Amino acid sequence: MDYHLLGLILSFLFNGTKVLAGYPIWWSLALGQQYSSLGSQPLLCGSIPGLVPKQLRFCRNYIEIMPSVAEGVKLGIQECQHQFRGRRWNCTTIDDSLAIFGPVLDKATRESAFVHAIASAGVAFAVTRSCAEGTSTICGCDSHHKGPPGDGWKWGGCSEDADFGVLVSREFADARENRPDARSAMNRHNNEAGRTTILDHMHLKCKCHGLSGSCEVKTCWWAQPDFRAIGDYLKDKYDSASEMVVEKHRESRGWVETLRAKYALFKPPTERDLVYYENSPNFCEPNPETGSFGTRDRTCNVTSHGIDGCDLLCCGRGHNTRTEKRKEKCHCIFHWCCYVSCQECTRVYDVHTCK
Ligand SMILES: *[C@@H]1O[C@H](CO)[C@@H](O)[C@H](O)[C@H]1NC(C)=O
Ligand SMILES: *[C@@H]1O[C@H](CO)[C@@H](O)[C@H](O)[C@H]1NC(C)=O
Repeated sequence: MDYHLLGLILSFLFNGTKVLAGYPIWWSLALGQQYSSLGSQPLLCGSIPGLVPKQLRFCRNYIEIMPSVAEGVKLGIQECQHQFRGRRWNCTTIDDSLAIFGPVLDKATRESAFVHAIASAGVAFAVTRSCAEGTSTICGCDSHHKGPPGDGWKWGGCSEDADFGVLVSREFADARENRPDARSAMNRHNNEAGRTTILDHMHLKCKCHGLSGSCEVKTCWWAQPDFRAIGDYLKDKYDSASEMVVEKHRESRGWVETLRAKYALFKPPTERDLVYYENSPNFCEPNPETGSFGTRDRTCNVTSHGIDGCDLLCCGRGHNTRTEKRKEKCHCIFHWCCYVSCQECTRVYDVHTCK
């Protein structure tokens, strides 16, 4: 193992077991039973696995914000699972491990790029939202983005302060990404790309006030996009991610690795693009070393020619078909006024799964 690989492996002791991962162990905040009641139980910063000293200080100083940090990672993971639901790698997490994605994200792949971006966006998003909801005393609504009122509306409500959420995400999520190796440079870049997505998608949201829905008075405020929009955008960035090569430079502080676009012919990546420098496995067969679960028994779409189709998802191994009975509501009738009554029907579906 060469020095930069060694460098990116974070190891520490937790419950006497060594946890190795090339990505943040504190992401386990988003899963694990022990953190599920973050809101109601006192959170002990010292018991969160994998925090570097800067994060531990942050946690102790801004403990009120920590539940949103955890919530944000959870949001990011849920969105990842939605975006990748029909793909060979579907963003599976492992509940009983602190390295919640297993070894899959140890490599500097597109998948790693996406998860870093969506997780750091999730942290910024959830912190911003909870500040606007007034759950913390150290943050609140954005008062400096106002400007003059627009045509037919005035400022009102609580503008979401995304700059604050982004700041928190940068401080906390990037705290361990200060190593001079290539992986750290990649994580910093992708984390920032995720956060920038939030800032780019801020928009005006308005509400009408007046008698029975008339719009006599219209008030507007800055709002974050739906997190789904962030997920859709970053998924496009995953599809067009830029492959990089690692360059080593001798600097006064020692060897430093940086990333350079691999193909000079292509447009170099901007700060909004995702970057990676290692190829993904094909995820067809289970492999404990790469963390691939394989696609056996996965449900595939027999009519799709895309990656969720049986040909591609099953990697050419073919598929099995069985029928499944599902109870559904049917023959619904609308009664004046106002309720709907339905019958229950049993419908038979074909379910296709990979061999
Ligand atoms: C994701 O993949 C895993 C492993 O192949 C599988 O067990 C799980 O059911 C899949 N999830 C979805 C939503 O397809
Ligand atoms: C299967 O693929 C077809 C064609 O792409 C699509 O119209 C359909 O909605 C898909 N079905 C499911 C269950 O995703």
